[in-house]
Amino acid sequence: MRFNENQLTTPYFMVDEKKLIENLEKAKQLKKISGAKLVLALKCFSTWGTFDTIKPYLDGTTSSGPFEVQLGHETFGGETHAYSVGYSSHDINTVAPLSDKIIFNSLTQLATHFEAANPFASLGLRINPERSVAGQDLANPTRPYSRLGVKQDLLDLSIVDKVDGFMFHMNCENKDADAFIEILDYISNTFAEYLTHLKWLSLGGGIFFTAPDYPIEKLALALKAFSEKHQLQLYLEPGEAIITRTADLVVSVIDIVDNNKKTAIVDSATEAHRLDTLIYNEPASIGEASADGAFPYIIGSCSCLAGDQFCETQFDEALQIGQKLHILDSAGYTMVKLNWFNGLKMPSIYYKRVDGEIELLNSFDYQDYKDSLGKG
Ligand SMILES: Cc1ncc(COP(=O)(O)O)c(C=O)c1O
Repeated sequence: MRFNENQLTTPYFMVDEKKLIENLEKAKQLKKISGAKLVLALKCFSTWGTFDTIKPYLDGTTSSGPFEVQLGHETFGGETHAYSVGYSSHDINTVAPLSDKIIFNSLTQLATHFEAANPFASLGLRINPERSVAGQDLANPTRPYSRLGVKQDLLDLSIVDKVDGFMFHMNCENKDADAFIEILDYISNTFAEYLTHLKWLSLGGGIFFTAPDYPIEKLALALKAFSEKHQLQLYLEPGEAIITRTADLVVSVIDIVDNNKKTAIVDSATEAHRLDTLIYNEPASIGEASADGAFPYIIGSCSCLAGDQFCETQFDEALQIGQKLHILDSAGYTMVKLNWFNGLKMPSIYYKRVDGEIELLNSFDYQDYKDSLGKG
């Protein structure tokens, strides 16, 4: 079935394959120069209908919970890395046969699940390097009292009898290659006695190597030097860097209300369809907005939460009821967090291929909402 973009019913996500490939080409360059392998962080983006585009570029997936392991194994293939902050015995028995690498978050988790996991996968341990680049405390893996990873003072060399690898994840949207390289040097010096015994090391995600003007070659050469020095296979776990700027959430203006400021109410809500707008207090960008526009609006959600709004912005012309708006960059940590709050209509998911053809990946109806709350 062929779709005409102008006639699609909102709300919907439109993922753009051409833009995705632009990011993936940068990932390819990084891999080629550095020798590092890249596994997609499913916690950021799991829309598996796009994986036929991503698979040729990346080496596999990494996960943050048992279902992501299963999804990565089934729909992506390549290497399946399993990490979770806490695995139950049931989780481990389910994920171990599907995993190439299992990374534990604590020494207790490693000891508890070693026997069950070891026959299936190469084991690893998450380390807290106590160094990070992360804009917000909420997303800083090395914040005070962090539960994420083992600190150096709890380690001793006997750990290398149990694990083949370490994982360090300490960045969040880090666009500064020098700041990353500084942490890399710190890891190289501080953990050298462990690194010589390991086979692999993951440096996690949060490196924004697809940002405009990011010095990819500089990063890649630093990674290459590190892996040669310590004789390790390096991995990165990019999420946001792969999917950034590739998808819009498209909504319609349903109403315009005026209470000293004009609010355009759209048929979506941050709390249901774009949670990070709210959690990180980062206003959304609207494709149709204009920096010098003379018509200011709050772009308000269709939920009952008073403060639920996408942003305040301005337009060159007055908004009209029925008009579509494109909420930019709405894939990463967004499509994986959708929920049915207020019984709002769930956005459909479309994929615009390089040749301009639009595919429907999925759409949702009342029955899906009802089934999410109970059966029978
Ligand atoms: C362990 C781990 N790896 C990879 C990622 C992906 O990070 P990003 O999407 O910022 O690249 C995250 C994000 O939280 C993470 O916790």
